[in-house]
Amino acid sequence: MKFLLGGLCLFWAVALSFCFPWLKHQPNITEDELNQHHSHPRHEGFPDRCDGLGFDAVTLDEQGVTYFFRDEFLWRGFRFAAEFINKTWPGLPDHIDAAFRIHHKNSPEQHDRMFFFKGNQVWQYYGTKLEGQFLIQDKFHGIPDNLGAAVECPEGECQHDSVLFFKGATTYVFDLSTNTVKQRPWTGVHICTAAMRWIDRYYCFQGSNFTRFYPHTGLVFENYPKDARNYFMRCEGRGHGNKTVDPSIHNRCSNRSFDEFNQDEFGRVYAFRAGWYFRLDSKRDGWHAWPIHSTWPSLHGKIDGVFSWNKKTYFIQGSQIYIYKAEAHYTLIEGYPKSVTEELGIHGTDVDATFICPGTSILHVISGNQVQSINLEQTPRNLVDGLRIGHSHVDGAMCNSRGIFIFVGTDYYKYPSTTELAGWTKIPEPHSIRADFMSCVQ
Ligand SMILES: *[C@@H]1O[C@H](CO)[C@@H](O)[C@H](O)[C@H]1NC(C)=O
Ligand SMILES: *[C@@H]1O[C@H](CO)[C@@H](O)[C@H](O)[C@H]1NC(C)=O
Ligand SMILES: *[C@@H]1O[C@H](CO)[C@@H](O)[C@H](O)[C@H]1NC(C)=O
Ligand SMILES: *[C@@H]1O[C@H](CO)[C@@H](O)[C@H](O)[C@H]1NC(C)=O
Ligand SMILES: *[C@@H]1O[C@H](CO)[C@@H](O)[C@H](O)[C@H]1NC(C)=O
Repeated sequence: MKFLLGGLCLFWAVALSFCFPWLKHQPNITEDELNQHHSHPRHEGFPDRCDGLGFDAVTLDEQGVTYFFRDEFLWRGFRFAAEFINKTWPGLPDHIDAAFRIHHKNSPEQHDRMFFFKGNQVWQYYGTKLEGQFLIQDKFHGIPDNLGAAVECPEGECQHDSVLFFKGATTYVFDLSTNTVKQRPWTGVHICTAAMRWIDRYYCFQGSNFTRFYPHTGLVFENYPKDARNYFMRCEGRGHGNKTVDPSIHNRCSNRSFDEFNQDEFGRVYAFRAGWYFRLDSKRDGWHAWPIHSTWPSLHGKIDGVFSWNKKTYFIQGSQIYIYKAEAHYTLIEGYPKSVTEELGIHGTDVDATFICPGTSILHVISGNQVQSINLEQTPRNLVDGLRIGHSHVDGAMCNSRGIFIFVGTDYYKYPSTTELAGWTKIPEPHSIRADFMSCVQ
């Protein structure tokens, strides 16, 4: 099976630049689970996760399944009934203090392992296989015993691959590249009883409440804490979301077209649709439609073009252009939005899609079947006209190391490079966006 999946991965890697062993557990990914409109099943003698008592720890495993722990119990995924921890991890004690899945790309023998903490001990598992039991001070030197919570923080979100440990009012940032610890007096995320990273978000749970925070500053978002029972589980009479939003926007598998796709220089891949976005490279951990402004401040509604260059991400929306610094998290550069004409020398209102290939500074702007090129390293801007493509209208475009992807309706077309895009004689075969990008079962 492993070999087979590896083979599939290789095959897909040719078409897409990201690849995870997600095929295995496709049908029960989180969004689908959360969309089930019934409350949690309960087993006699086992607690109900909707009781408001909160959790000791929350973590994902190497397959992207989320586990909520309390006392000797765990809840698997977002809707299953409670069971004993020892049914899945026989060697673990009751009442764990903290748990996380490690992201440690430079250390394959550690990467994706799960760590469970209690008192001064830490257990290391790969899936459900125990790999070792250690003293915290031996495994994570400088981290205190009796932790409150812990969460992974990959490079790009923290400066290096790191783990955030929480105890009382102090956060300990453990840098895995140097095995050193920095203490942070982050007041917004004090007294976390559990912490988790889900898709690209970080949450500190305080009992049944939770707060979203930035992992490299500890700053918390507005309008928190919120009650976890409205978000991370299905509880009678509870829930969230705006029921007036057209469900075809949030349903990643609907036939509705996407407005744009983008892959930034940090490997983050996004699909945009009507003021919402999906993150694609974290598909192993599940799916969720998030409002664009929750990641790109001040940006609301449908976008026309998006591209990344020089560690910045650019959005074209009507006649306006928004530029965000892309490191760690996205911050709008002062003075923006500005007029597209002023910034790029083109009419923003004509833009259907934009793309820029990695390692180049040539922005391609698609309007109808026309492509204009702009070298972003040159000011004043010098527009090069001329390229005509074989599609009369496109919704979005993206270029990565695998080639150029043109998105039209529910299909995409792949070209090896701009040479083939410009020199087309016959349009390549269409492929399904839903199947290949959104991992929908046909
Ligand atoms: C998803 O399904 C797979 C296979 O049926 C199963 O092993 C896994 O535990 C399921 N995950 C969740 C969260 O239910
Ligand atoms: C698992 O844990 C429960 C609760 O602590 C305990 O009653 C049960 O005997 C344990 N089962 C095994 C196989 O250790
Ligand atoms: C949860 O947050 C609300 C305010 O948003 C607060 O009133 C309540 O006491 C908090 N509950 C817990 C268990 O921290
Ligand atoms: C719900 O969405 C609609 C349409 O997108 C919007 O007009 C309305 O203000 C939203 N309501 C809330 C409470 O966010
Ligand atoms: C999408 O369109 C196809 C073909 O038109 C149709 O068979 C399918 O049921 C549609 N799916 C959804 C989710 O609307």
